[in-house]
Amino acid sequence: MTQTAAILGGGVIGGGWAARFLLMGWDVRVFDPDTEAERKINEVLGNARRSLPGLSDTAMPAEGALSFHADLAEAVGPADWIQESVPERLQVKHKVFAQVQAACREDAIIGSSTSGFKPSELQENAARPAQIVVTHPFNPVYLLPLIELVPSPANDADTVQKAKDILTSIGCFPLHVRKEIDAHIADRFLEAVWREALWLIKDGIATTEEIDEAIRMGFGLRWAQMGLFETYRIAGGEAGMKHFIEQFGPCLSWPWTKLMDVPELTDELVDQIASQSDAQSGMHSIRELERIRDTNLVAMMRALKAQDWGAGAVLNRAQAAKPALEDSALPIVTVQRAVPLDWTDYNGHMNEARYLQAFGDATDRFMEMVGCDADYIASGGSYFTAETHLRHLDEVHAGAVIRVETQVLLGQGKKMHLFHRMYEGGRLLATGEHMLIHVSLETRRASEPSATIAAKLGEIAAAHASLPTPEGAGAAVGKR
Ligand SMILES: NC(=O)c1ccc[n+]([C@@H]2O[C@H](COP(=O)([O-])OP(=O)(O)OC[C@H]3O[C@@H](n4cnc5c(N)ncnc54)[C@H](O)[C@@H]3O)[C@@H](O)[C@H]2O)c1
Repeated sequence: MTQTAAILGGGVIGGGWAARFLLMGWDVRVFDPDTEAERKINEVLGNARRSLPGLSDTAMPAEGALSFHADLAEAVGPADWIQESVPERLQVKHKVFAQVQAACREDAIIGSSTSGFKPSELQENAARPAQIVVTHPFNPVYLLPLIELVPSPANDADTVQKAKDILTSIGCFPLHVRKEIDAHIADRFLEAVWREALWLIKDGIATTEEIDEAIRMGFGLRWAQMGLFETYRIAGGEAGMKHFIEQFGPCLSWPWTKLMDVPELTDELVDQIASQSDAQSGMHSIRELERIRDTNLVAMMRALKAQDWGAGAVLNRAQAAKPALEDSALPIVTVQRAVPLDWTDYNGHMNEARYLQAFGDATDRFMEMVGCDADYIASGGSYFTAETHLRHLDEVHAGAVIRVETQVLLGQGKKMHLFHRMYEGGRLLATGEHMLIHVSLETRRASEPSATIAAKLGEIAAAHASLPTPEGAGAAVGKR
């Protein structure tokens, strides 16, 4: 049966909650007195539809129904989950909870998005305090999984478990904050970093951009995949967490920071941290943790590279030039690279789709060599691949340096017929045969290439006409 969420407050955060529930198949009923709320939520929803479904490798459920209500009571009446995301003012939140509890089901959960208030503060004077918990999300709510689930002593274990189950079912990671505290857990860190950043700017040490570079080019990537303690465990090396704290702990009380109130590093605190870290990460050796970290970093940095953003843009700038056209007469080297960690599969070798990626990169490079480069494509012409035949002849592992050599079988008129061979050293790993057609990007139909491209391609095709026909060219499936 379709479940129903009521979203109270449809701003930045409420809009994100509405999108997440809706795309996970829930019906969503919104109440927000702002006449612009419907437009804003639909815009957030557009971004969520664009980004969220592809995160999953299986189809998402059918979207639920979205409705807007002028009356709060009408919005919350049938709801299983009520998410409050009104402005961060206790008085406003109290007023909303009073209206909600007069109209909602007693078995519904009321979650508050509050960034700062403790659940016990939200529950003050409530008709049924046990129904209200903090469920603090992070922007964009439809993508980031973390929800800080903060109960007070007034909430029973069943409510907390039910909240966890529902949040998990909509793709969230509920982090049960066991002891309520102002600003919960995550915003305490953000607050500390934020304060330090404001001082760095005020004292003329760094600009906003320099501060952002200091985060995103380095420790931000480490934090994203291991957090703080697992990262520092590795930094302690084989001597471990205790050693790390003993080594770096004392500098916390040096006057480096404006945040001077530092807990004393008693033996008890050091032991507590070390044993918690053992429980968290002790099943992996430091070398294993390093490998896990490195694989994660490679995957993340290559994802950023594809977006030409942050640390990924640095990778793009730093990489050596791609192979250049040296001699039209030889099979032409179009790709030379190491197999990256994220190209391997559960069998431990390069995934079959990455063979095609490498051959696709070879074709792209060859297109650039004959003049079909970014400027030409921007001017409205390109080649589209019409047909591909791949043979996987031998396996290859991460780290191996592969080389693709490209031979032109036909380069005439609208047609470009390429035969790629992939090698590791002298070992033939795969062949890929591609038929491409030149198209006009305006009409999306076949068209003649520019005279420059036709001449260059014709020259290479003529030089390659004297090469022997490659073994396997024109082969069909099953005929190796
Ligand atoms: N912005 C963030 O990054 C962030 C992150 C996590 C949590 N939060 C928390 O989420 C809550 C909302 O923050 P926001 O950034 O979405 O604010 P916002 O100003 O973008 O949105 C608040 C919305 O609430 C509506 N509203 C005002 N009074 C209302 C009422 N009585 N009933 C229903 N709707 C009402 C407003 O019209 C507005 O659309 C706050 O408690 C905030 O602390 C914010």
